[in-house]
Amino acid sequence: MYNLLVLPGDGIGPEVVGQTLRVIEWFGRKRGVAFNVTEGLVGGCSYDAHGTPLTDETMERAMAADAVLLGAVGGPRWDSLPFEKKPERGLLRLRKDMDLFANLRPAMVFDALADASTLKTELVKGLDIMIVRELTGGVYFGEPRGIETLPNGTRRGVNTQVYTTPEIERVARVAFELALVRGRRVCSVEKANVMESGLLWREEVTRLHAAEYRDMGIELSHMYADNCAMQLVRAPKQFDVILTDNLFGDLLSDCAAMLTGSLGMLPSASLGAADANGRRRALYEPVHGSAPDIAGRDIANPLATVLSFSMALRYSFHLPTEADLVEEAVRRALSGGLRTADIMQPKMAKVSTSVMGDVILRELDKLIG
Ligand SMILES: NC(=O)c1ccc[n+]([C@@H]2O[C@H](COP(=O)([O-])OP(=O)(O)OC[C@H]3O[C@@H](n4cnc5c(N)ncnc54)[C@H](O)[C@@H]3O)[C@@H](O)[C@H]2O)c1
Repeated sequence: MYNLLVLPGDGIGPEVVGQTLRVIEWFGRKRGVAFNVTEGLVGGCSYDAHGTPLTDETMERAMAADAVLLGAVGGPRWDSLPFEKKPERGLLRLRKDMDLFANLRPAMVFDALADASTLKTELVKGLDIMIVRELTGGVYFGEPRGIETLPNGTRRGVNTQVYTTPEIERVARVAFELALVRGRRVCSVEKANVMESGLLWREEVTRLHAAEYRDMGIELSHMYADNCAMQLVRAPKQFDVILTDNLFGDLLSDCAAMLTGSLGMLPSASLGAADANGRRRALYEPVHGSAPDIAGRDIANPLATVLSFSMALRYSFHLPTEADLVEEAVRRALSGGLRTADIMQPKMAKVSTSVMGDVILRELDKLIG
């Protein structure tokens, strides 16, 4: 029995998670894969109920779960709260206390949506890349940091890009392991030409590859981050797994996301260290936010959250066949011409959040005959 903590959150979070819960329940009913699902509060709804965006009790449950599935947090109702009480602090605490150092952002283009990309269809059709971004180190956390006033009155802002060998090694290991079950190619991205931390990154990734992964048939290449940005919009299909640091990963994963056309289609996973039994703490969530502009109207796209659950099946529960089933059901729903409003195209049928959920279940039923 797999323990899954579900935190629907705010805005459209409960709507998109609601459809995903139907998929989870389907697996118990039709495939005998039972999940012990418990729910909790995070974000603004937790603040309303408990005066904090994440209680210690929910945090403890997240630490004990095999995986956490989160909807989204935030909304204008809570915008004026003090910094420590803001909904986003709940999410940040989850990421920090669970020590989720590897952020996985797939950029996958379903054939039926290939012409929704701003790039030419032939450039993105069949695209399937995975960006592995280091999430807990680098310039967003490095010390010293701050804004100071120099003796001559000039103000100076300082951030420090810093990485250690263990920080680089553990995230590189995640990228290599992923490549083993994908296209067996890792492209490591930094600015080793102008940054010492980038040079260390390149040396450590090269060393780990030679010691453990070259003989397993994994190919390693290196690319400067500025070139990678260009290559992502010039010929994105050249990549399989992109491994990069926190800052460059922030930019490159958003850039890659837009190749796919819609925020409503983008899943993500954040992974922590593996324990002696190979179990990792893990948080799965759609890339999008709580979309207060459309919340409560049953028009949000649930597919990013459904696909986040499929990532949980693959990376936390080690059920690749079940993950493939979910992705295939999504593929068939789209090729059948059904679209939520955000991905609507001419001649397609516009459906609500809940009808998209119905269709995914129907396609799953058909897939297992
Ligand atoms: N991980 C998170 O929980 C997360 C991430 C980003 C933003 N936020 C929060 O969400 C709130 C709104 O932020 P925002 O408007 O900048 O970003 P957003 O992602 O919530 O919305 C951006 C636009 O995309 C649309 N959109 C997003 N998801 C969609 C979906 N599944 N289906 C259809 N349309 C969708 C929205 O309607 C909106 O027009 C803010 O409070 C912000 O802090 C939370």
